[in-house]
Amino acid sequence: MTVPTLKFYDLPTPEIDVSAEVLAGLKQSNKQIAPKYFYDETGSALFTEITRQPEYYPARTEIGLLKNLNRDLVDTIGTGVALIEYGSGSSEKIRVLLESLRPSLYAPIDISRDYLAQSVERLTQDYDWLNVKATCIDYSQEFDLPFDASGRRVGFFPGSSIGNFDPDQAVRFLRQVRRHVGVDGSLLIGVDLKKDHAVLNSAYNDRAGVTERFNLNILTHLNAEMTGNFELENFRHEAGYNIDKGCIEMFLVSETAQEVMLGGAVISLEAGEKIHTENSFKYSSDEFTQMASDAGFAKHRFWTDDQQWFGLFYLYS
Ligand code: AVJ
Repeated sequence: MTVPTLKFYDLPTPEIDVSAEVLAGLKQSNKQIAPKYFYDETGSALFTEITRQPEYYPARTEIGLLKNLNRDLVDTIGTGVALIEYGSGSSEKIRVLLESLRPSLYAPIDISRDYLAQSVERLTQDYDWLNVKATCIDYSQEFDLPFDASGRRVGFFPGSSIGNFDPDQAVRFLRQVRRHVGVDGSLLIGVDLKKDHAVLNSAYNDRAGVTERFNLNILTHLNAEMTGNFELENFRHEAGYNIDKGCIEMFLVSETAQEVMLGGAVISLEAGEKIHTENSFKYSSDEFTQMASDAGFAKHRFWTDDQQWFGLFYLYS
């Protein structure tokens, strides 16, 4: 009988650092809150709901690619590898890969301790052959893998989460993955592609208002986490494609002049002042291939859907 093994490496960011980072972002003249703070329990559930909206094509397109390419992916990646997932998001995607690749190790890395623990528990229940080493850490920081992994290492970074980094940070992140997987390692990564701006704009302004609730929920999260009194009805959701930067930008716009208490500090906002909450960069396949090669992944394979809306890249050297 095979016995699944599960190890948990808990390296969360200290509360003090979180609070200092959030307050620093809200005290500067261009106010911002980092998108990683979207994902409390409600935020994670709202994101899942976003992926079901008709306007939000990325998740559905990527899953379709992973399912259609199954054979091709197994041939390209090989079986029995150590699979390192950055951000353990939708279990639907990882399940497709786990079932086809049968990795010797599955190592998810996520900022949210509870979410990660729940997700790996369910996976080990369903796959009795699965060896798991789960790490709770903010993967946008520099870090070394806290465990050994024998065999060839393959990173998995789906969902176009890479789009949350600006291009410089994205290259730095890809370099870090390259360091984690080593010279004979590789990375399977999902990237949202440049396309008609109307398609992009409606994906972040769904008619049911789920993205709006997702954006506003970041304030509820901070109220709870840092003792704050943001009132959601005093803010509105704004999202739009910035052609010069090549990204969707999301903001919370202050409807009135107001003062908000947060973590013992006072945040003053003018009427119409914006808090930046997210960038979601879109790349052409050439732009992304160039970034990958800057990060040391000299070779790649590329797959896309019929409309060329979403790209799946396999990067190696
Ligand atoms: C999880 C970062 C890929 O940028 O599309 C969806 C998050 N924000 N709708 C994205 C998101 C608003 C999403 N990523």
